Amino acid sequence: MKHSIFLNFLRHPTQVGAICASSRVLSCAITDMAGIGSVPQTVVELGPGTGVFTREVLRRQKACGGRFLALEINEGLCCNLKNIFPELELYQENALRLPELLQEKKIDHADVVLAGLPWAIFPEELQTGILDSVCRALHPGGQFLTFAYVQGVWLPAGRRFRKHLQDRFRNVETSPVIWRNLPPAFIYRCTL
Ligand SMILES: C[S@@+](CC[C@H](N)C(=O)[O-])C[C@H]1O[C@@H](n2cnc3c(N)ncnc32)[C@H](O)[C@@H]1O
Repeated sequence: MKHSIFLNFLRHPTQVGAICASSRVLSCAITDMAGIGSVPQTVVELGPGTGVFTREVLRRQKACGGRFLALEINEGLCCNLKNIFPELELYQENALRLPELLQEKKIDHADVVLAGLPWAIFPEELQTGILDSVCRALHPGGQFLTFAYVQGVWLPAGRRFRKHLQDRFRNVETSPVIWRNLPPAFIYRCTL
């Protein structure tokens, strides 16, 4: 069975929320901003989809070590990820369950959480529920990185999402627009 983001968008529009995967340029930018590959860290990815960020994290961590866990809610995408990345520590889980999962795996806290989740289509309770889980999962000083599409930033849902980040994190920075992504996007880097 084919596992493109587009086909999964047709099957599960309210979970996938995008018609194509992030570009390699966005994937390099987000892993660069997170400092992945510079020192051994515990990294978590929420919503890896077809594995664009996953590939980059695995490649960078190979050189310097560290632990990497990925949580994907969609069963078909999980099977696909397991085939592509047999070495990946992958869980078919809702991102909401991140703190409990870390506890079960005897991991104190994560250093970095990356998310490619479709925030703009999530109801507000799910947005805030996942952000609260991320905050509980991170070390003080830990980093949360995610991205948003440029066209959504002035819409009420986009403004509300930024406010939820600012309410929870000590520092919220944004990257320049990454035009080589469909649609163009920018990255949020939030420090707890
Ligand atoms: C737009 S796709 C992004 C895929 C990839 N990160 C990228 O940037 O190309 C969103 C992904 O988040 C997953 N997802 C949605 N809600 C989730 C949740 N509550 N917990 C974990 N994964 C979720 C979807 O199944 C999908 O794979």
